[in-house]
Amino acid sequence: MKNKILVIHGPNLALLGEREVAVYGNFTLDEINEKLRGLAAEEKVELEIVQLDGEGEIVEKIGRARKEFSAILINPGAYTHYSVAIRDAIAAVAVPTVEVHLSNIYAREEFRHKSVIAPVAVGQISGFGVNSYLLGLKAAVEFLKK
Ligand code: DQA
Repeated sequence: MKNKILVIHGPNLALLGEREVAVYGNFTLDEINEKLRGLAAEEKVELEIVQLDGEGEIVEKIGRARKEFSAILINPGAYTHYSVAIRDAIAAVAVPTVEVHLSNIYAREEFRHKSVIAPVAVGQISGFGVNSYLLGLKAAVEFLKK
């Protein structure tokens, strides 16, 4: 196991803390990243964390992940619901991927109920705010131990 996990925050997530706080909570992206780094240290895994707004940038990052990372933790933001390109990138690299969402996408507008990413992910965690990320990281670490 390479012990290195890639965390990808998708579009608009740089605005956390200001953006629709009733839906996404008060945590900023930096605060979420700090918590992720704390858990990673406890679990003795290395993290690379990126926030990318562009679909192409995310596809590119995933495409290069194959050699360097043993797992991916991704919140694809709005791309979750329609990006076949990101879905195909995950399927192509075959790096175990955990999909996370701050909000419960199934309790929101109908267009958010479908994830095109979920079928190629190991699993999905949705609705627990910042804990979705921590649960997702833990799930990825446990998956890699198997
Ligand atoms: C989100 C849910 C998506 O529907 C939305 O477009 C986001 C954030 C979440 O974390 O709850 O940008 O992925």
